[in-house]
Amino acid sequence: MAKQIAVLIGSSSATSFSKLTVKHLQKIAPASIQLNIVEIADLPLYDRDLDENSPAAYTRVREAVANADGVLLVTPEHNGGISAMIKNAIDVVSRPMGQSKWIGKPAGIVSLGAGASGGVRAADQLRIICSGSFINMPTAPFAANVGGLFSGTFNEQGEVASTAVAEMLQNFINSYAQFVSRF
Ligand SMILES: Cc1cc2nc3c(=O)[nH]c(=O)nc-3n(C[C@H](O)[C@H](O)[C@H](O)COP(=O)(O)O)c2cc1C
Repeated sequence: MAKQIAVLIGSSSATSFSKLTVKHLQKIAPASIQLNIVEIADLPLYDRDLDENSPAAYTRVREAVANADGVLLVTPEHNGGISAMIKNAIDVVSRPMGQSKWIGKPAGIVSLGAGASGGVRAADQLRIICSGSFINMPTAPFAANVGGLFSGTFNEQGEVASTAVAEMLQNFINSYAQFVSRF
């Protein structure tokens, strides 16, 4: 049976390139994994005063991560860092104290950026966050960095048009699936 992967996307834009990238990955992923998007746009900003009486959205996302075999974190680079939306979800799922749902899930990282580097700074920040004691996820060494968003990586239909990016994404998802199979 396919390992179930919770996919968290750090953009709610209707025209999100991050969402288009995940759609592409869902099509090309090996049969050993299934990519399931977990909606995080409706999460209220994390507030520890809500730990005792959490909003339904907190509980839904925490449970989705708890039930997953692995996690794919997808974020656009925003001003040299990860998007606030993905950081908020990371914080929500890491709490209440001692009840983090992240720990031990094999993680994959995908970043997007307008520039050629494809948001590599955001990807590197995610990797550091994944190593934190309340997150503590074994993280696949190879991250996907999708760049050139406004210069030919996607076509007008929202499909991946760049052969180089398509190859990189195929290599990434194959190696992530292999990584997940070890757990
Ligand atoms: C507030 C903001 C800051 C951004 N900062 C960066 C950046 O530091 N580096 C970069 O490569 N692209 C940057 N971008 C471009 C985004 O990575 C690009 O718009 C991407 O499409 C956003 O992902 P999305 O389409 O899934 O929302 C920024 C965009 C916004 C809205």
